[in-house]
Parts: sequence; structure tokens; C-alpha cells
Amino acid sequence: MEYTYILTEKKDRVGLITLNRPKQLNALCDGLMDEVGAALADFEADDGIGCIVITGSEKAFAAGADITMMKDFSYMDAYKGDYITRNWEKVKTCRKPVIAAVAGFALGGGCELAMMCDMIFAADTAKFGQPEIKLGILPGAGGTQRLPRAIGKAKAMDMCLTARMIGAEEAERSGLVARVVPADKLVDETLAAAATIASFSLPVVMMIKECVNRAYESSLNEGLLFERREFHAAFALADQKEGMAAFVDKRAAAFKHE
Ligand code: HXC
Repeated sequence: MEYTYILTEKKDRVGLITLNRPKQLNALCDGLMDEVGAALADFEADDGIGCIVITGSEKAFAAGADITMMKDFSYMDAYKGDYITRNWEKVKTCRKPVIAAVAGFALGGGCELAMMCDMIFAADTAKFGQPEIKLGILPGAGGTQRLPRAIGKAKAMDMCLTARMIGAEEAERSGLVARVVPADKLVDETLAAAATIASFSLPVVMMIKECVNRAYESSLNEGLLFERREFHAAFALADQKEGMAAFVDKRAAAFKHE
């Protein structure tokens, strides 16, 4: 499919989405987010894809929602147009794992988009921030909610109230990012990790994603019960038989994703 604001690629059971509005530092206009949603839906429906990566450019993952698009919005434009939820929702609801590979700026909606993904790999050049307060608005795509869950209340308050950006090292130390890698290796390392994930049994990968997300949506007991049910259900999979047979036979497992 031809897109205007993004590029897509498929390799080693991984779907790569590259945000491609370089002149605007990948500012997230509606058209771009519509395309991200469509590409995610496409990869989700594709049996040949087991993991998805979203990345930007060297200078910016995304510098935020498109300010020129929003600046004259009325309340009704925002409310009736269902701004944000309408076309951002797919990132959250995608059932296959989505990894954000972030270099340069991830600000405002850019930081929120990264946080909607299942994990963030950061280049050593990455800068995360919620500078909305400087524009007379506030984060609107999860910044005030996902940030405290990821890095705690103190740092989330600091970032949202002072607009301070944090670098990759602080982001990793604080729990926002899974790995920091040299900028020139960011996409390759993220694609390698995604290919590893995609080589495992897809239903198991999806179950693990669901279980980990449960940790954020429920009490510990509910989460443990959910995990146990999924664990029991795994014994219905051909891939469980194959994985354990391969271990016993001392050979590599050949998962069929069923
Ligand atoms: C529209 C943007 C933009 C944005 C940058 N640009 N960010 N356009 N929306 N969010 C444009 C600039 O206007 C400029 O266009 C070009 O990209 C290059 O940016 P510069 O500012 O010249 O680059 P630089 O000096 O390197 O500074 C980089 C920057 C700065 C620090 C990232 O651009 C910046 O502060 N951007 C805004 C960041 C921000 O406030 N984000 C939050 C947005 S609100 P021209 O035409 O002049 O070359 C938000 C709300 C989320 O995200 C709510 C839910 C979705």
C-alpha cells in the first residue's frame, strides 16, 4: 500500500513503520496517524508478521502532535472530531507486540505514541518530554497517565509541569525505556529483537502481551488468575508440544504459530 506520511517494510516476520514527515520532525498530523493505524491493522491481519516496530528519523521520533493543525481548534472541533482517540487507538489495541525505536526528539504526542507501544528502545540521542504546558495545553494521549506508571509520580510531575526533557540514560534509569543503544545501531538492534520475538509462537507472544498488560489493568490477584488461565491454555497449542519436544530432542523448535 502507498502511504504519504509513513514508509512500511516487512522482513523476518517483522513489520517496520517509519514515520516520514522529516521537515516537520514527524509532527503527528491526522493523516499520519490515520496511516499508522492502517499499517498496524495491515500487519496485525498478516499471518507472516509476528512483531511490529515503529521508528522515526535520526533527529526526531516525533516532535508531538501537529501544532499548526491544532492551533485554531475549537472545543467542538476537538470533541466532535474525537481528536486523538479516533486514529490513535489502534496503537493501543494492536494484539501483536509493537516496539518504539526512538532517536532524537520524542515530545508531547511523540512521547505518548512511544509509551503506547509495548516497549521503547532508545538511541543514546533520544530526548523524551511532555512540553504541552508551554503551549497552554496538557498531554492528551496518555502522558499524565502512562508516564507516572512508567517512571513514578515525582518524575512524571517534573516532566509534565516543568516541560523538562530527559535523555536516554535518565529514561532507562527511570524505567521508561527497555534498552539504550548507539544511535547508528538503533533500527538494526530493534529489528533484531523484534525478529527474535517474531520467531517464537505467535499465540504465546500475544498471550504474554495480554498478561503483562493485565498487570496495569487489574489487582495482583486478578492478574495472577488471568496469567494462570493463559498458562493452562498454552497446553492446547501445537507450539507447546513442539517447543517441549524440541527441548527433549536437543534441536531448535519449529513453531507453526498455532
Ligand atoms: C508542527 C512542528 C512541530 C510540531 C516541530 N515542528 N515540531 N510543526 N507541530 N509539534 C516544525 C517546526 O515548526 C519547523 O518548521 C520544523 O518542524 C523544524 O523545527 P525547528 O523548531 O526549526 O527545529 P529545532 O530548532 O531543532 O527544534 C526542535 C524542537 C522544536 C525542540 C523539537 O521544534 C519544538 O519545540 N517543537 C515543538 C515541540 C512540542 O511542543 N511538542 C508538543 C506538541 S503538543 P519550519 O516550517 O519552521 O521549518 C502535543 C499534544 C499531544 O503533542 C496531545 C495528544 C496527541
